[in-house]
Amino acid sequence: MDDGAHLEALEHPIPEQTLRRIPLYHQILAEMQARGEAYVSSRHLAQFFRIDDTQVRKDVSLIGYKGKPKAGYSILGLKKAIEEFLGINYENTAILIGAGRLGSALSQYPGLAQYGLRLVAIFDNDPARTGSVLGAFTILPMESLQRVVRSFDVGIAIVCVPKDAAQSVAGRIVSLGIKAIWNFSPTQLAVPSDVIVRSENIALGLAILSHYLKRRKKDDSAAAATARQNPPQKLIEILAHFQPKRESLVQILEDTQKAFGYVSRDSIGHISDFLNISRESVLETASFYPVFRMDPPARYRISLCRGENCARKGAVEFLEAIAKELHIVDGETTPDGLFSLELVPCRGLCSDAPTVTVNEKVLDVKTVDALVRELSALAHSQNPS
Ligand code: FES
Repeated sequence: MDDGAHLEALEHPIPEQTLRRIPLYHQILAEMQARGEAYVSSRHLAQFFRIDDTQVRKDVSLIGYKGKPKAGYSILGLKKAIEEFLGINYENTAILIGAGRLGSALSQYPGLAQYGLRLVAIFDNDPARTGSVLGAFTILPMESLQRVVRSFDVGIAIVCVPKDAAQSVAGRIVSLGIKAIWNFSPTQLAVPSDVIVRSENIALGLAILSHYLKRRKKDDSAAAATARQNPPQKLIEILAHFQPKRESLVQILEDTQKAFGYVSRDSIGHISDFLNISRESVLETASFYPVFRMDPPARYRISLCRGENCARKGAVEFLEAIAKELHIVDGETTPDGLFSLELVPCRGLCSDAPTVTVNEKVLDVKTVDALVRELSALAHSQNPS
């Protein structure tokens, strides 16, 4: 069964995408709070995910929190409401099964406690491991599982066993009354419908990372060399407004993108030098938020409204025409760097629907043919031959 659907079918009748965004809102709010900010608007939060601000308001109302008209959301209030919603304020007792490399590393991860997870025991069925010490724990044999689960009122089991053993371990956990499994084994677990399973597909994650690293390797080595040179004046001016603290990172990235139109590899190097943190950690944050672009903007930046009125009046046909003519979809740029496409929320220009802009200028086109003519004229103005 798909884990997302599974989660949705349980206590929270909340869409999976919302559930995924909620911890990210928490992270953004924590960073803003560390910078001493007090209020945030739904529009500001929306831009991190490239979603409509009405979607943010929907997400927040599902948490059961209300903002103040004009002021927006209290950062402290919303953060607390999220903590309450996610149960971060309550301690959940967890056990970990499988003390191999992954299990060992996870058991030492300080973020577990940060999110209210109290690890009470680690188990393994390998006699070579049981009895040995891992951090604050002595690895216990599987025979002790029932006693520990009953004694400590365990709520969550973290499963890090090999694929072949995962299903039988899950069966055992479920028979002891545990209702939440965090599964790191590369297999889907079949469990009763009242048990929540969250699976982490590490193999898939690694495949994506490896593809990403392959694409970026060349750029990164060039950027590492240029990062040793001085930053451009504009970036020096941006950095001058900040304390060299990790909490400033998101705001620095925002200002950098505003100034240059994107966050270049060079900028990432300079920012990491300024904050005295690794390039990887700057890159990780920049890639984490869809709002940050790491490639230069195209010469013609097409924005197409994905609001309801525009969709009814032909935006979908426009989208298809752009895909057919330019071979790009939302978030992509043509290989020659001439055109990019971004789907944007309603801009309040519904009377002109469907709304399409190029470099922020509204195009006066109402039919697909007119749009295609405009695009072709732009392409030829760049390439007159
Ligand atoms: S729905 Fe497109 S501008 Fe309002």
